[in-house]
Amino acid sequence: MTNHTSDPQTNNVYSPSVPELIRQMKKKGQLRFFMDAWQDYGDLAHMKFGPQEMFLVVHPDAVRHVNVSNSDNYDKLDSYDGVRELLLGDGLVASRGDLWRRQRRLMAPFFTPRAIEQHLPVFIADTQAMIDRWHGLGAEDQPIEIGDEMMLLTAAVILHTMFSTESSDDLLETKAAVETMIRYTASGQANPIKLPRWMPTPANRRYFKARELVHTYIRMLLTQRRSLPQDQWPDDLLSKMMLTRDVDTGEAMSDSLLRDESITIFVAGHETTARTLTFMFYALSQNPHVERRMVDELSSVLGDRQPTTADLKQLPYTLQVIKETLRLYPAAPIYARDVVADDEINGVFIPGGVRVMPFPYATHRHPDFWPDPERFDPDRWTPEAEAARHPYAFHPFAAGKRICLGNNFSLLESHVIAAMLVPRFQLRLAPGHQPQVVMAGTIASKNGMPMLVERR
Ligand code: HEM
Repeated sequence: MTNHTSDPQTNNVYSPSVPELIRQMKKKGQLRFFMDAWQDYGDLAHMKFGPQEMFLVVHPDAVRHVNVSNSDNYDKLDSYDGVRELLLGDGLVASRGDLWRRQRRLMAPFFTPRAIEQHLPVFIADTQAMIDRWHGLGAEDQPIEIGDEMMLLTAAVILHTMFSTESSDDLLETKAAVETMIRYTASGQANPIKLPRWMPTPANRRYFKARELVHTYIRMLLTQRRSLPQDQWPDDLLSKMMLTRDVDTGEAMSDSLLRDESITIFVAGHETTARTLTFMFYALSQNPHVERRMVDELSSVLGDRQPTTADLKQLPYTLQVIKETLRLYPAAPIYARDVVADDEINGVFIPGGVRVMPFPYATHRHPDFWPDPERFDPDRWTPEAEAARHPYAFHPFAAGKRICLGNNFSLLESHVIAAMLVPRFQLRLAPGHQPQVVMAGTIASKNGMPMLVERR
């Protein structure tokens, strides 16, 4: 038996005291902490921290059980209270039950592979703006922070596709405000000592100011559109959401739902894709033979042209590089579900009321499914290799009915951005820099990703 395999007979519980837990978390960081728990306690590691009890879900069979086969028993209850209250309201990531079902049905048509192709011109224009800016960069021996650059690019993409935002001041202000809300929510989740929100602490004040700014901006967009005849509305996601009607009831989305879904799409959709692109550039810098093959593919198909939808189908290796990046650096390395009623997974009793944590970062390194798991190898993504693998050995977008709504959007966006940037620039890690991979909501490098940008 490998130490990764959870044996129901011997499966014991990891229950450090609270001070020990805090010490371990501080020393190792969350990502290492959970990886060690997997190594030591197996594919369904059982943990108790004070009153909080949870299971890490690593084995692909268990990933399927939680997300697909018995998904009604694994809901988004109190695990999502914080994000629901502070950030996403009733938007799709945090909502549940009938409201979630109705909203998912209303929103799904805007995210089909065909529907998102409509956004290709935005992906191209925003990437071109970044290329122009990078051409204007000064000395090539000055590293730039690639994480920030990618955040700026993906924020521009999502704000343009959603709101057709034209002013760059609006873009930067909205991006900064939503990021303030995200940081505040994340710090509240991590911090066991919570001060009341009404207290005028600097953090509370910053949060409420940012939230007001975002809410006011969206209210203003709604008012502006309604003051115009419909045929003058921009053809973007917000207009589509405003115009859609429930097939059964004929109801439109309320203003508060339009706001919550807009914030949700922005939050769910920009940082995740930015992290993926950042780690793709890192992986390429460490694997020159992969980079060479990718540049060859891109140069032979595109030359100097911008990609069309048809071109993208001729760029399979580029997409394989993106998928391999999502395997080793899944932007959402862990997610949570609350167990509704007692259940059993692979012979292990799972009590109702506890939490399970599907853990893609670990599943994607499981040696039974990924030979030589730490090696960055895009050839794992040929159609034959994919077909031969366990279907739930890869779950960067979760799986089943709550699978990421924007998965196709994000893959298309990343494909276009990679296809335009990689043949034009070579990015090398700043000399001596060793990124420290951590979980900071999304996956991130604790000490940044400074890279030298050189024109090819
Ligand atoms: C690499 C990029 C992305 C990754 C790794 C990712 C990952 C995920 C994951 C793991 C979930 C499940 C979260 C949970 O259950 O708590 C999720 C949900 C979601 N994502 Fe993404 N995401 C990405 C990009 C996007 C983009 C670009 C959009 C929108 C344009 C988006 C919109 C959503 C929405 C709306 C949900 C909630 C779906 C539901 O519950 O019905 N995501 N995503």
